[in-house]
Amino acid sequence: MTDPESLSRQMLDRLTVSGELSLAWSEAFAAIPRHRFIPDTIWITDGAGLVPLHRSEDPQEWMRRAYGPAAVITQVDDGHPAGPGERGHYITSSASQPDVVALMLAALDAQPGMGGLEIGTGTGYNAALLAHRLGTQNVTSIEIDPELANHARRALTSTGYPVTVVTGDGADGYPDGALYDRIMSTAAVRQVPYPWVVQTRPGGTILTPWGTPYHNGALASFTVNSDGGADGRVVGNVAFMRLRDQRFRATVDDEEGDETTARHSHTTVAPYNVASDYDASLAIGMRVPNCTNIYVPANGDSDYARLWFVDPTTDSWANLVHRPGADDYPVHQSGPRNLWDEIETAYRWWRDAGRPGPQRWRITITPEGQQATLTQASPPARPAS
Ligand SMILES: C[S@@+](CC[C@H](N)C(=O)[O-])C[C@H]1O[C@@H](n2cnc3c(N)ncnc32)[C@H](O)[C@@H]1O
Repeated sequence: MTDPESLSRQMLDRLTVSGELSLAWSEAFAAIPRHRFIPDTIWITDGAGLVPLHRSEDPQEWMRRAYGPAAVITQVDDGHPAGPGERGHYITSSASQPDVVALMLAALDAQPGMGGLEIGTGTGYNAALLAHRLGTQNVTSIEIDPELANHARRALTSTGYPVTVVTGDGADGYPDGALYDRIMSTAAVRQVPYPWVVQTRPGGTILTPWGTPYHNGALASFTVNSDGGADGRVVGNVAFMRLRDQRFRATVDDEEGDETTARHSHTTVAPYNVASDYDASLAIGMRVPNCTNIYVPANGDSDYARLWFVDPTTDSWANLVHRPGADDYPVHQSGPRNLWDEIETAYRWWRDAGRPGPQRWRITITPEGQQATLTQASPPARPAS
């Protein structure tokens, strides 16, 4: 069945069973018709890249995706597909996965009547959910892309939630509506913009996907204090596209990857440990600035997969040759930074610190900037006597 009512009920059932949907938000999810926020053209992956799916060409598939468990890609390459043909290269807007939307709204802990600012309106769906619970007049949303902002405004108005949608740079917040009880960003940041702190009421919350170029996968919740700062901790695992001016894009191309001119060494640290272990890669990202990792599977040019580390700001790169079953991996490094050495040092530091998880990190924002520090592990609970 592809009628929106049945699909919406199925979505709700999935969210309820998975435990992501709190009672407080289930009414809003039931009331908002998600498909009314999804544009007629969405983007899907066909194995080789991002291609458009037009509602008029396959209305059933379009509707299934509108209520499906995955994010719905609604814009690529800032609205100007850059790939050959009509292919997209980068995802620049989407309606987030319903379970992630539910998880974030639960973490926001927003109550009816509170004032809320959303950064990254996108389709307007999340703004409608906020409006349903907080009251339409209490919600403002900012979108940097004028076309997306217009689409969201229309969808919000026609579904009965005429939220104020501002076209602008969400990094500046929206001082006209401050102070807010809650600021919620649906685009990831590396650096929490200080205006968000200034525009949140002391005791209020800033909730945002947060990450480093190395690890873009944390949901951070900050409590704003009365001395102009905020204290944050990691409360979830989500990966979002970044705020426009905080993007960090790096590629591996043939020229920068010339192994014959690179410095050679070996390591016993397996690629999985530094790239796929959530806790390790979070910690590495905290300690190795301006560096991302890219996994390139074995292909026609190479028998082995490689894990690349790239800092485009200094033209530095390194790679680890992934030889399955080996206990020693060749390393190449090039450019002014020895990126692999930095990563291995950070990894060993994390391991020697007792492999701390996300809950051990505190992120502090002051007018001077942002700092992430590792807190002491809590002592083991004393056995009951
Ligand atoms: C994951 S989408 C948001 C999904 C949206 N909340 C929804 O319900 O559909 C992220 C959005 O952030 C927007 N964005 C990126 N940088 C921004 C900025 N500096 N200010 C405001 N919006 C921004 C993007 O254009 C994109 O639409």
